[in-house]
Amino acid sequence: MSYDLPIETPVVRPRRLRSTPAVRRLVAETRLHPAELILPVFAREGIAEPMPIGSMPGVFQHTRDSLRKAAVEAAEAGIGGLMLFGVPLVQDATGSEGTNPDGILQQAIRDVVAEVGDQLVVMSDLCLDEYTDHGHCGVLAADGSVDNDATLLRYAEMAVVQAEAGVHMVGPSGMMDGQIAVVRQALDAAGYQDVSVLAYTAKYASAFYGPFREAVGSSLKGDRKAYQQDPANARESLRELELDLAEGADLVMVKPGMTYLDVLRRVADISPVPVVSYQVSGEYSMVEAAAANGWIDRERMILETLTSIRRAGANQVLTYWAVEAARMLANG
Ligand code: PBG
Repeated sequence: MSYDLPIETPVVRPRRLRSTPAVRRLVAETRLHPAELILPVFAREGIAEPMPIGSMPGVFQHTRDSLRKAAVEAAEAGIGGLMLFGVPLVQDATGSEGTNPDGILQQAIRDVVAEVGDQLVVMSDLCLDEYTDHGHCGVLAADGSVDNDATLLRYAEMAVVQAEAGVHMVGPSGMMDGQIAVVRQALDAAGYQDVSVLAYTAKYASAFYGPFREAVGSSLKGDRKAYQQDPANARESLRELELDLAEGADLVMVKPGMTYLDVLRRVADISPVPVVSYQVSGEYSMVEAAAANGWIDRERMILETLTSIRRAGANQVLTYWAVEAARMLANG
């Protein structure tokens, strides 16, 4: 039996808008721009040469010299900012090096601000895990738990020391309750009203931070589940958002990236301040490992992951591919 397609019900053809590179470019809803990419970088004390991080192929712990060079390259690539992490020689129970004015992170801030401070937003991680010998993000109570309020006092000191070194924006990442209020208050009291706070607002207890632990020489045994969020929960992030906004956050972050796009979307839908996503170490290493095996198209995957994070609502993205992605975008 033959069938005549009735003329009054033509096939609807969405494919027209996918048919040529020019039309695809015209209708793209999400665009990546180098200015919204932020590169996390590691400054390690007491090394003479940059040290490759085994679990993050292509990423290095920097000397003061190589950090300056990396900062210049980042500025030339046109990215928006740098997030600095310090890897100290000495760790102790209270993370003393985190508040040493000449500690590695403070030196790194001064160096990078002097080198590229006019072109890039210089940010610093405000957390104790790189500096404590037990590897937790705060100081411990007698029972071994992380003491929230004692930790807040350490964060207040860190904020001021980082501001004194010249940082533009601090990133409290320890998930202590009240951390944004305390950091804001400490900065204001010390005369640093112009230093911004990028709040790690919804930060999950994630296995995707695994490679980062090697990157910062963390000695953590156990986990951070008593202060970072449970991957099972999304609604809780809205409460964290409300608190961080009330406490004065200038930007808010959802972290990790790809496994939390739903949370990112929910936060982005209601946040009155810029929403940042952190594409973390494990996301980077998974793609690099698959690419090293020849299983995926590395460059396409980098751009697809970043596009997805932007599409889900992030305004800015921290990514270890920031400079490379910026160059790819510049080359079309
Ligand atoms: C805490 C901090 C961590 C990361 C950024 N800041 C580690 C953690 O919370 O365990 C992870 C970033 C990454 O995995 O790329 N200072």
